[in-house]
Amino acid sequence: MPESNNNILVTGAAGYIGSHVVEQLVKNKDKVILIDNLVTGYKKLINKKAKFIKADIKNKSKISKIIKDYNITSIIHLAAYLNVSEAETNKKKYYQNNIIGTKKLLEACKSSNVKNIIFSSSCSIYGNVKGSVGENKRPNPQGYYAYTKYKGEELIKRYSKKYNYKYAILRYFNVAGASPSNKIGQIEKSHGQLVKNIAIQYLKKKPVMNIYGNNYRTKDGTCIRDYIHVSDLADIHIKSIKYLTKNKKSILLNCGYGKGYSVQQIIDIFKKIKKGVKVYYKKRRPGDIAQVYADTKKFKKILKWRPKYNNIKLIIQSAIKWEKKLNY
Ligand SMILES: NC(=O)c1ccc[n+]([C@@H]2O[C@H](COP(=O)([O-])OP(=O)(O)OC[C@H]3O[C@@H](n4cnc5c(N)ncnc54)[C@H](O)[C@@H]3O)[C@@H](O)[C@H]2O)c1
Repeated sequence: MPESNNNILVTGAAGYIGSHVVEQLVKNKDKVILIDNLVTGYKKLINKKAKFIKADIKNKSKISKIIKDYNITSIIHLAAYLNVSEAETNKKKYYQNNIIGTKKLLEACKSSNVKNIIFSSSCSIYGNVKGSVGENKRPNPQGYYAYTKYKGEELIKRYSKKYNYKYAILRYFNVAGASPSNKIGQIEKSHGQLVKNIAIQYLKKKPVMNIYGNNYRTKDGTCIRDYIHVSDLADIHIKSIKYLTKNKKSILLNCGYGKGYSVQQIIDIFKKIKKGVKVYYKKRRPGDIAQVYADTKKFKKILKWRPKYNNIKLIIQSAIKWEKKLNY
């Protein structure tokens, strides 16, 4: 690849969020290299207009070669495992992939031209909070998945001093929906996410929804989350790269809309879209926290960002539209 101002490496590029980030990078005509080990990623989600290399972030020598061969200057690091329940029962798998994997990726940046790294963190690192949470709240991860994301943040910060890059740590809230182009959306079902489950159930003759825990200290007893449309989230990555390139200053930002919906509320919206939905109340899932939604003042100010798709019905409908396409 010829010398250019910004060559961007995206890890986890065949995944749900990665493919949406890549869709926007390609639209902006950025030079993008995609890597993924395809464990929970899909060939179908790989953008044909970018160069794809099947690789694991733990393979330091391979990643280091890719970084040098393509003169990578920015990395958007999304590769991780993210099933909250699985992380509790298989901590080793999550430690190796999310913590050691991130460490290896950062070590592969040694003696390279990498100037910017964007890291996908999670609101789950805050632990139990009451209502809205700002970035300066001290992390208090409750589950093991959240712990791996917290450790990832620490590594990103530590290595930024060592290798002299700037970072944007993005703490995603709950990501949902599909691209307005309807060319890409979420395929992987194993993460147990509410809106994806709704889309799957929409296509069933006898739709069933499970609610895990209805005795939390929330308005209706079910968990409260802040749902952000995946295309809005992808846009935040584009703005973050621009910010780092221009200001040469690291940032740590919440990525949500600042509004919480309970699981019950979301399912009630679904019941208006689909008739005959049966709801079962189950035990709490280990690792789940009662409520969390974003204080968005900081990131709106810093990135001068405004959401385009902050409508929960639209988010659910876009996920359903994509699910229909996926199954026909
Ligand atoms: N989806 C959400 O609501 C949410 C919320 C907070 C944070 N996140 C974070 O966002 C990132 C992307 O999540 P997603 O929802 O797109 O999940 P996803 O499973 O669709 O994407 C993750 C991708 O990473 C790849 N991958 C995993 N381990 C890898 C490795 N060792 N080497 C190379 N590739 C590897 C997978 O094959 C997959 O394509 C993750 O880091 C996740 O922790 C997601």
